[in-house]
Amino acid sequence: MTLDLRIPWVEKYRPKSFDDIVSQNIAINSLKAFIKKGNMPHMIFTGPAGTGKTSAALIIAKEMLKGENYYRDLLELNASDTVRMDYVRSVIKDFVNQNMIIRKKDSLKIVILDEADNIPNQVQQALRRIMERASTKVKFILMCNYINRIIDPIISRCAVFRFVNLPKEKIVERLKYIAKQENLSIPEDKSELFFDTLFFISAGDLRKAINTLQMSVALDLLENLDVNEILKISGFMDQETLEKFIEVFQAKDFKGARKIVNSIETYDSRNLIRQLIGILPRINLQPNVLNILLAFFGDIDYKISQGADDQIQILALVAEIINQVNK
Ligand SMILES: Nc1ncnc2c1ncn2[C@@H]1O[C@H](COP(=O)(O)OP(=O)(O)OP(=O)(O)O)[C@@H](O)[C@H]1O
Ligand SMILES: [Mg+2]
Repeated sequence: MTLDLRIPWVEKYRPKSFDDIVSQNIAINSLKAFIKKGNMPHMIFTGPAGTGKTSAALIIAKEMLKGENYYRDLLELNASDTVRMDYVRSVIKDFVNQNMIIRKKDSLKIVILDEADNIPNQVQQALRRIMERASTKVKFILMCNYINRIIDPIISRCAVFRFVNLPKEKIVERLKYIAKQENLSIPEDKSELFFDTLFFISAGDLRKAINTLQMSVALDLLENLDVNEILKISGFMDQETLEKFIEVFQAKDFKGARKIVNSIETYDSRNLIRQLIGILPRINLQPNVLNILLAFFGDIDYKISQGADDQIQILALVAEIINQVNK
């Protein structure tokens, strides 16, 4: 079989029914119950990227709208459509109000709003009024990564479903399923390390895990499998560099540590922070400083997310680790 890599596997393997959705049992079981009864509330799906929110919303639409009316009765928008007040006012309102009188009594319309946490507050207020006035036959599904960015009056009108990062065994299971479907040949002796690495890179985001698997195949990395290559193309340090870090930390050698930081060609500083946290247990730290260090890590991660200079922040972090090492 020849591999067709043009179709993104994340789409090819998008769950088509609730049973295909991995993990998320709490959310999925209550969703199934609502569907079974045929009465769904407005809903918010919240949680980290790549955990099944959009997939679940599309499955609900398919189940509730029953085939032929799917395209007529579903409105799918994302945040870039909804930043403009006039757009929300006209498009959503029109959709919500269209043919409501002549329709069959029990037929439903669904509005799916992706990235709802990026809708400006004022527009959310307008949306709230549309939701209030809409017929009970129109249901909204809002999706977001950060529910604290959704205004309270909307939250209180919705049932909230929390999606969580997927655990390692679930991610690996799904990746193995895809590898089997695609007939991938992964060297047996390196298979476990390979899947471990894909999980590490994904940090519980199944979309990222599947994309990294597909990228490894597209770049022909499976045959002479070296997980360091996969780490590098994903913006992580290779094992060797990590080992060097452990060495210089242990020797309290700041100059050496700075040299390593400067020698890394491309890195994503937030990934680097995750990897440094991973090696802390292997460093001989002074008693009871792990929690202090982790708080420091959190602080640096936040500063970088807010646009602080990566290099300076990473060096500050490295200096702090070295300070706390027991020589
Ligand atoms: N729980 C899951 N079960 C099975 N596949 C999943 C799951 N979560 C994610 N995936 C895979 O990742 C892809 C992306 O998932 P989805 O679009 O549902 O994520 P999301 O939670 O909406 O993410 P985002 O917050 O970035 O929009 C899916 O097409 C599917 O291949
Ligand atoms: Mg989504």
